[in-house]
Amino acid sequence: TRTSSSGLRTPIVAVLGHVDHGKTSLLDKIRGSAVIEGEAGAITQHIGATAVPLETVSRVAGRLVDPDDFDLPGLLFIDTPGHHSFTTLRSRGGALADIAILVVDVTDGFQPQTIEAINILQDSSTPFVVAANKIDTVPGWNPRENSPVQGTYDAQSDRARSRLDERLYELIGELSDHGFSADLYWRVQDFQKNVGVVPVSAETGEGVPDLLTVLMGLSQRYMKDAMQIDVSGPGAGTVLEVKDEKGFGATVDVVLYDGTIREDETIVVGGTHEPIVTDVRALLQPRPLAEIRAESRFDRVDEVGAAAGLKIAAPDLEEAMAGAPVRVVRNREIDDVIAEVEAEL
Ligand code: GTP
Ligand code: MG
Repeated sequence: TRTSSSGLRTPIVAVLGHVDHGKTSLLDKIRGSAVIEGEAGAITQHIGATAVPLETVSRVAGRLVDPDDFDLPGLLFIDTPGHHSFTTLRSRGGALADIAILVVDVTDGFQPQTIEAINILQDSSTPFVVAANKIDTVPGWNPRENSPVQGTYDAQSDRARSRLDERLYELIGELSDHGFSADLYWRVQDFQKNVGVVPVSAETGEGVPDLLTVLMGLSQRYMKDAMQIDVSGPGAGTVLEVKDEKGFGATVDVVLYDGTIREDETIVVGGTHEPIVTDVRALLQPRPLAEIRAESRFDRVDEVGAAAGLKIAAPDLEEAMAGAPVRVVRNREIDDVIAEVEAEL
Protein backbone atom coordinates (compact mmCIF):
# COMPACT_ATOMS: atom_id res chain seq x y z
CA THR A 1 0.00 0.00 0.00
CA ARG A 2 1.03 3.60 -0.42
CA THR A 3 0.52 4.84 3.08
CA SER A 4 3.36 6.30 5.12
CA SER A 5 4.64 4.97 8.43
CA SER A 6 2.26 7.18 10.41
CA GLY A 7 -0.74 6.09 8.34
CA LEU A 8 -1.09 9.33 6.39
CA ARG A 9 -2.61 8.88 3.02
CA THR A 10 -1.23 10.11 -0.29
CA PRO A 11 -2.65 13.53 -1.14
CA ILE A 12 -4.61 13.70 -4.41
CA VAL A 13 -3.51 16.52 -6.70
CA ALA A 14 -5.80 17.51 -9.59
CA VAL A 15 -4.25 19.23 -12.61
CA LEU A 16 -6.79 21.59 -14.15
CA GLY A 17 -6.77 24.28 -16.84
CA HIS A 18 -7.73 25.37 -20.36
CA VAL A 19 -7.10 23.15 -23.38
CA ASP A 20 -3.45 23.06 -24.54
CA HIS A 21 -2.15 25.10 -21.62
CA GLY A 22 0.25 22.26 -20.79
CA LYS A 23 -1.28 20.06 -18.04
CA THR A 24 -0.19 16.73 -19.50
CA SER A 25 3.24 18.11 -20.51
CA LEU A 26 3.82 19.30 -16.97
CA LEU A 27 2.96 15.87 -15.56
CA ASP A 28 5.19 14.28 -18.20
CA LYS A 29 8.05 16.45 -17.08
CA ILE A 30 7.47 15.36 -13.51
CA ARG A 31 7.29 11.67 -14.22
CA GLY A 32 9.84 11.71 -17.01
CA SER A 33 7.73 9.67 -19.38
CA ALA A 34 5.96 10.74 -22.53
CA VAL A 35 2.31 9.85 -22.22
CA ILE A 36 1.53 12.81 -24.47
CA GLU A 37 2.97 11.02 -27.50
CA GLY A 38 0.44 8.20 -27.24
CA GLU A 39 -2.57 10.51 -27.01
CA ALA A 40 -5.09 10.96 -29.81
CA GLY A 41 -4.43 14.45 -31.14
CA ALA A 42 -2.60 15.11 -27.87
CA ILE A 43 -5.95 15.98 -26.32
CA THR A 44 -6.48 14.35 -22.95
CA GLN A 45 -9.70 12.36 -23.33
CA HIS A 46 -9.91 10.75 -19.93
CA ILE A 47 -8.82 11.36 -16.44
CA GLY A 48 -5.51 9.63 -15.74
CA ALA A 49 -4.12 8.92 -12.30
CA THR A 50 -0.38 8.78 -11.68
CA ALA A 51 1.32 7.96 -8.40
CA VAL A 52 4.61 9.76 -7.89
CA PRO A 53 6.63 8.44 -4.95
CA LEU A 54 8.19 10.91 -2.54
CA GLU A 55 11.73 10.04 -3.72
CA THR A 56 10.82 11.10 -7.26
CA VAL A 57 9.22 14.33 -6.05
CA SER A 58 12.33 14.98 -4.04
CA ARG A 59 14.69 14.14 -6.92
CA VAL A 60 12.88 16.51 -9.31
CA ALA A 61 12.63 19.25 -6.70
CA GLY A 62 16.37 18.89 -6.00
CA ARG A 63 17.68 20.82 -3.05
CA LEU A 64 14.28 22.47 -2.56
CA VAL A 65 12.69 19.36 -1.03
CA ASP A 66 14.41 17.22 1.58
CA PRO A 67 12.46 13.93 1.88
CA ASP A 68 13.29 13.83 5.59
CA ASP A 69 11.19 16.95 6.10
CA PHE A 70 8.07 15.29 4.77
CA ASP A 71 6.05 12.48 6.21
CA LEU A 72 4.17 11.77 3.00
CA PRO A 73 4.24 8.66 0.78
CA GLY A 74 4.18 10.82 -2.35
CA LEU A 75 1.53 12.49 -4.48
CA LEU A 76 -1.25 11.07 -6.64
CA PHE A 77 -1.77 13.31 -9.68
CA ILE A 78 -5.01 13.34 -11.64
CA ASP A 79 -4.73 14.77 -15.14
CA THR A 80 -7.95 16.23 -16.56
CA PRO A 81 -8.91 17.28 -20.10
CA GLY A 82 -9.12 20.99 -20.92
CA HIS A 83 -11.38 20.66 -23.96
CA HIS A 84 -14.70 22.42 -23.31
CA SER A 85 -16.82 19.27 -23.78
CA PHE A 86 -15.29 17.58 -20.73
CA THR A 87 -16.88 19.63 -17.95
CA THR A 88 -18.02 16.54 -16.02
CA LEU A 89 -14.57 14.99 -16.03
CA ARG A 90 -13.06 18.25 -14.83
CA SER A 91 -15.49 18.66 -11.97
CA ARG A 92 -15.06 14.99 -11.03
CA GLY A 93 -11.27 15.46 -10.90
CA GLY A 94 -11.61 18.74 -9.01
CA ALA A 95 -14.01 17.27 -6.47
CA LEU A 96 -11.73 14.29 -5.76
CA ALA A 97 -8.71 16.47 -5.14
CA ASP A 98 -7.14 17.48 -1.85
CA ILE A 99 -5.09 20.13 -3.60
CA ALA A 100 -4.78 21.29 -7.21
CA ILE A 101 -2.55 22.84 -9.83
CA LEU A 102 -4.26 25.38 -12.05
CA VAL A 103 -2.21 25.50 -15.24
CA VAL A 104 -2.37 28.76 -17.20
CA ASP A 105 -0.43 29.50 -20.39
CA VAL A 106 1.37 32.69 -19.41
CA THR A 107 0.85 34.25 -22.87
CA ASP A 108 -2.70 33.04 -23.49
CA GLY A 109 -3.84 34.06 -19.98
CA PHE A 110 -7.24 33.28 -18.48
CA GLN A 111 -9.55 31.40 -20.87
CA PRO A 112 -13.08 29.91 -20.46
CA GLN A 113 -11.93 26.57 -18.98
CA THR A 114 -9.48 28.37 -16.68
CA ILE A 115 -12.45 30.22 -15.23
CA GLU A 116 -14.52 27.04 -15.08
CA ALA A 117 -11.68 25.31 -13.20
CA ILE A 118 -11.31 28.18 -10.75
CA ASN A 119 -15.04 27.99 -10.02
CA ILE A 120 -14.76 24.24 -9.35
CA LEU A 121 -11.87 24.89 -6.94
CA GLN A 122 -13.73 27.69 -5.24
CA ASP A 123 -16.92 25.64 -4.82
CA SER A 124 -15.03 22.69 -3.33
CA SER A 125 -12.69 24.91 -1.22
CA THR A 126 -9.70 23.10 -2.71
CA PRO A 127 -6.37 24.82 -2.03
CA PHE A 128 -4.41 25.34 -5.24
CA VAL A 129 -1.27 26.74 -6.78
CA VAL A 130 -1.12 28.42 -10.18
CA ALA A 131 1.47 27.13 -12.66
CA ALA A 132 2.13 30.05 -15.04
CA ASN A 133 3.31 27.78 -17.83
CA LYS A 134 5.31 28.20 -21.06
CA ILE A 135 7.64 30.93 -19.74
CA ASP A 136 10.14 29.70 -22.36
CA THR A 137 7.90 31.25 -25.06
CA VAL A 138 8.47 34.78 -23.75
CA PRO A 139 10.41 36.58 -26.55
CA GLY A 140 14.12 36.75 -25.73
CA TRP A 141 13.86 34.03 -23.07
CA ASN A 142 17.14 32.32 -22.27
CA PRO A 143 16.28 28.86 -20.94
CA ARG A 144 18.04 27.02 -18.13
CA GLU A 145 16.94 23.38 -18.14
CA ASN A 146 15.25 22.15 -14.95
CA SER A 147 16.48 25.10 -12.92
CA PRO A 148 14.60 26.55 -9.92
CA VAL A 149 12.82 29.60 -11.26
CA GLN A 150 14.52 32.33 -9.27
CA GLY A 151 17.90 31.51 -10.76
CA THR A 152 16.55 31.43 -14.30
CA TYR A 153 14.53 34.62 -13.69
CA ASP A 154 17.57 36.54 -12.45
CA ALA A 155 19.63 35.32 -15.42
CA GLN A 156 17.27 36.86 -18.03
CA SER A 157 17.81 40.12 -19.88
CA ASP A 158 15.88 43.07 -18.43
CA ARG A 159 13.59 43.03 -21.46
CA ALA A 160 12.70 39.33 -21.22
CA ARG A 161 12.18 39.64 -17.49
CA SER A 162 9.87 42.64 -17.81
CA ARG A 163 7.88 40.89 -20.55
CA LEU A 164 7.35 37.96 -18.19
CA ASP A 165 6.52 40.31 -15.30
CA GLU A 166 3.81 41.98 -17.38
CA ARG A 167 2.16 38.63 -18.07
CA LEU A 168 2.47 37.44 -14.49
CA TYR A 169 0.87 40.64 -13.19
CA GLU A 170 -1.94 40.24 -15.65
CA LEU A 171 -2.51 36.73 -14.26
CA ILE A 172 -2.43 37.97 -10.69
CA GLY A 173 -5.00 40.62 -11.69
CA GLU A 174 -7.28 37.97 -13.22
CA LEU A 175 -7.04 35.90 -10.05
CA SER A 176 -7.94 38.94 -8.01
CA ASP A 177 -10.99 39.58 -10.24
CA HIS A 178 -12.12 36.06 -9.31
CA GLY A 179 -11.76 36.71 -5.60
CA PHE A 180 -8.28 35.27 -4.96
CA SER A 181 -5.48 37.30 -3.51
CA ALA A 182 -2.44 35.94 -5.35
CA ASP A 183 1.24 36.73 -5.69
CA LEU A 184 4.46 35.23 -6.97
CA TYR A 185 4.98 32.24 -4.74
CA TRP A 186 8.23 33.47 -3.21
CA ARG A 187 6.40 36.52 -1.89
CA VAL A 188 3.61 34.49 -0.30
CA GLN A 189 3.99 34.14 3.47
CA ASP A 190 0.73 32.37 4.21
CA PHE A 191 -0.59 29.92 1.63
CA GLN A 192 -3.87 29.74 3.57
CA LYS A 193 -4.60 33.35 2.62
CA ASN A 194 -2.84 33.80 -0.71
CA VAL A 195 -2.56 31.78 -3.88
CA GLY A 196 1.03 31.25 -5.01
CA VAL A 197 1.89 31.74 -8.68
CA VAL A 198 4.84 29.66 -9.91
CA PRO A 199 6.36 30.58 -13.30
CA VAL A 200 7.22 27.27 -15.05
CA SER A 201 8.01 25.68 -18.37
CA ALA A 202 6.89 22.11 -19.00
CA GLU A 203 9.21 22.19 -22.00
CA THR A 204 12.48 23.18 -20.29
CA GLY A 205 11.60 22.15 -16.72
CA GLU A 206 12.31 25.61 -15.35
CA GLY A 207 10.25 26.22 -12.21
CA VAL A 208 9.18 22.57 -11.90
CA PRO A 209 11.30 22.13 -8.72
CA ASP A 210 9.56 25.18 -7.23
CA LEU A 211 6.12 23.90 -8.21
CA LEU A 212 6.73 20.58 -6.45
CA THR A 213 8.02 22.36 -3.38
CA VAL A 214 4.90 24.50 -3.10
CA LEU A 215 2.74 21.39 -3.64
CA MET A 216 4.51 19.55 -0.84
CA GLY A 217 3.93 22.56 1.41
CA LEU A 218 0.22 22.63 0.54
CA SER A 219 -0.01 18.86 1.09
CA GLN A 220 1.48 19.08 4.53
CA ARG A 221 -1.04 21.73 5.44
CA TYR A 222 -3.82 19.54 4.12
CA MET A 223 -2.39 16.47 5.90
CA LYS A 224 -2.65 18.24 9.23
CA ASP A 225 -6.38 18.71 8.66
CA ALA A 226 -6.80 15.15 7.45
CA MET A 227 -5.16 13.30 10.35
CA GLN A 228 -8.59 11.90 11.21
CA ILE A 229 -8.92 9.87 8.01
CA ASP A 230 -8.97 6.18 8.86
CA VAL A 231 -6.69 4.79 6.17
CA SER A 232 -7.34 1.20 7.23
CA GLY A 233 -11.16 1.39 7.06
CA PRO A 234 -13.34 0.02 4.24
CA GLY A 235 -12.31 1.57 0.92
CA ALA A 236 -14.12 4.44 -0.76
CA GLY A 237 -13.46 5.64 -4.27
CA THR A 238 -14.82 7.06 -7.51
CA VAL A 239 -15.12 5.36 -10.90
CA LEU A 240 -13.16 7.20 -13.58
CA GLU A 241 -13.84 4.83 -16.43
CA VAL A 242 -15.50 1.55 -17.33
CA LYS A 243 -13.33 -0.51 -19.69
CA ASP A 244 -13.27 -3.94 -21.25
CA GLU A 245 -10.02 -5.68 -20.42
CA LYS A 246 -8.88 -8.83 -22.19
CA GLY A 247 -9.28 -11.83 -19.89
CA PHE A 248 -11.26 -9.85 -17.31
CA GLY A 249 -14.33 -8.51 -19.13
CA ALA A 250 -15.73 -5.21 -17.90
CA THR A 251 -13.47 -3.52 -15.34
CA VAL A 252 -13.55 -0.15 -13.60
CA ASP A 253 -10.68 2.30 -13.24
CA VAL A 254 -11.04 3.86 -9.83
CA VAL A 255 -9.40 6.50 -7.69
CA LEU A 256 -9.46 5.22 -4.13
CA TYR A 257 -9.48 8.23 -1.83
CA ASP A 258 -10.08 6.57 1.53
CA GLY A 259 -9.46 3.24 3.28
CA THR A 260 -8.36 -0.04 1.74
CA ILE A 261 -9.74 -2.60 -0.68
CA ARG A 262 -8.81 -6.32 -0.80
CA GLU A 263 -9.21 -9.13 -3.27
CA ASP A 264 -12.44 -11.15 -2.77
CA GLU A 265 -14.17 -8.37 -0.84
CA THR A 266 -17.76 -7.43 -1.58
CA ILE A 267 -18.16 -3.98 -3.09
CA VAL A 268 -21.05 -1.74 -4.12
CA VAL A 269 -20.59 0.29 -7.31
CA GLY A 270 -22.97 2.92 -8.69
CA GLY A 271 -24.58 1.72 -11.93
CA THR A 272 -26.64 3.22 -14.75
CA HIS A 273 -29.82 1.60 -13.39
CA GLU A 274 -29.11 0.56 -9.82
CA PRO A 275 -26.18 -0.05 -7.48
CA ILE A 276 -24.16 -3.16 -8.42
CA VAL A 277 -23.23 -5.55 -5.61
CA THR A 278 -20.30 -7.75 -6.60
CA ASP A 279 -17.14 -9.48 -5.35
CA VAL A 280 -13.67 -8.29 -6.36
CA ARG A 281 -12.01 -10.84 -8.64
CA ALA A 282 -8.73 -9.02 -9.12
CA LEU A 283 -7.09 -5.75 -8.11
CA LEU A 284 -4.78 -4.46 -10.78
CA GLN A 285 -2.43 -1.62 -10.13
CA PRO A 286 -0.12 0.33 -12.39
CA ARG A 287 3.42 0.62 -11.11
CA PRO A 288 4.31 3.94 -9.46
CA LEU A 289 4.99 6.54 -12.15
CA ALA A 290 3.07 4.53 -14.73
CA GLU A 291 0.10 6.22 -16.28
CA ILE A 292 -3.05 4.23 -15.60
CA ARG A 293 -4.52 4.77 -19.07
CA ALA A 294 -1.31 4.13 -21.04
CA GLU A 295 -0.16 1.17 -19.00
CA SER A 296 -1.36 -2.18 -20.32
CA ARG A 297 0.49 -4.42 -17.90
CA PHE A 298 -0.65 -4.16 -14.32
CA ASP A 299 0.61 -5.68 -11.13
CA ARG A 300 -1.94 -7.94 -9.48
CA VAL A 301 -2.15 -7.07 -5.79
CA ASP A 302 -3.97 -8.41 -2.70
CA GLU A 303 -4.70 -5.04 -1.16
CA VAL A 304 -4.57 -1.37 -2.11
CA GLY A 305 -4.59 1.61 0.26
CA ALA A 306 -5.67 5.20 -0.39
CA ALA A 307 -4.88 7.25 -2.24
CA ALA A 308 -4.27 5.24 -5.37
CA GLY A 309 -5.43 4.68 -8.90
CA LEU A 310 -6.41 1.06 -9.55
CA LYS A 311 -8.39 -1.18 -11.82
CA ILE A 312 -11.00 -3.49 -10.32
CA ALA A 313 -12.06 -6.64 -12.13
CA ALA A 314 -15.35 -8.13 -10.92
CA PRO A 315 -18.47 -9.73 -12.40
CA ASP A 316 -21.40 -7.50 -13.47
CA LEU A 317 -19.46 -4.28 -13.97
CA GLU A 318 -20.84 -3.71 -17.50
CA GLU A 319 -23.38 -1.21 -16.19
CA ALA A 320 -21.03 0.61 -13.81
CA MET A 321 -21.05 4.34 -14.34
CA ALA A 322 -18.18 6.79 -14.67
CA GLY A 323 -18.27 9.25 -11.79
CA ALA A 324 -20.17 6.85 -9.52
CA PRO A 325 -19.04 5.87 -6.01
CA VAL A 326 -17.35 2.57 -5.12
CA ARG A 327 -17.63 1.28 -1.55
CA VAL A 328 -16.15 -1.74 0.19
CA VAL A 329 -18.78 -3.40 2.39
CA ARG A 330 -16.48 -5.23 4.87
CA ASN A 331 -18.08 -5.42 8.35
CA ARG A 332 -21.15 -3.40 7.45
CA GLU A 333 -24.71 -4.22 6.42
CA ILE A 334 -24.96 -4.44 2.62
CA ASP A 335 -28.21 -2.44 2.64
CA ASP A 336 -26.56 0.44 4.50
CA VAL A 337 -23.75 0.56 1.95
CA ILE A 338 -26.22 0.42 -0.95
CA ALA A 339 -28.11 3.34 0.60
CA GLU A 340 -24.82 5.25 0.92
CA VAL A 341 -24.01 4.68 -2.75
CA GLU A 342 -27.55 5.66 -3.83
CA ALA A 343 -27.31 8.87 -1.82
CA GLU A 344 -24.25 9.88 -3.81
CA LEU A 345 -25.63 9.21 -7.29
P1 GTP B 1 -5.52 19.14 -23.01
O1 GTP B 1 -5.27 17.86 -22.31
O2 GTP B 1 -5.94 18.95 -24.41
O3 GTP B 1 -6.43 20.05 -22.26
O4 GTP B 1 -4.08 19.95 -23.13
P2 GTP B 1 -2.93 20.06 -22.04
O5 GTP B 1 -3.22 21.20 -21.13
O6 GTP B 1 -2.67 18.75 -21.40
O7 GTP B 1 -1.71 20.51 -22.96
P3 GTP B 1 -0.50 19.60 -23.49
O8 GTP B 1 0.38 19.21 -22.36
O9 GTP B 1 -1.03 18.54 -24.35
O10 GTP B 1 0.31 20.69 -24.32
C1 GTP B 1 -0.26 21.37 -25.44
C2 GTP B 1 0.85 21.85 -26.34
O11 GTP B 1 1.64 22.85 -25.69
C3 GTP B 1 1.84 20.74 -26.75
O12 GTP B 1 2.21 20.97 -28.09
C4 GTP B 1 3.01 20.96 -25.83
O13 GTP B 1 4.23 20.54 -26.39
C5 GTP B 1 3.01 22.48 -25.67
N1 GTP B 1 3.58 22.91 -24.39
C6 GTP B 1 3.19 22.53 -23.15
N2 GTP B 1 3.91 23.13 -22.20
C7 GTP B 1 4.81 23.92 -22.85
C8 GTP B 1 5.86 24.80 -22.41
O14 GTP B 1 6.11 25.01 -21.23
N3 GTP B 1 6.55 25.45 -23.38
C9 GTP B 1 6.31 25.27 -24.70
N4 GTP B 1 7.06 25.95 -25.57
N5 GTP B 1 5.33 24.45 -25.14
C10 GTP B 1 4.60 23.77 -24.23
MG1 MG C 1 -3.71 16.95 -21.53
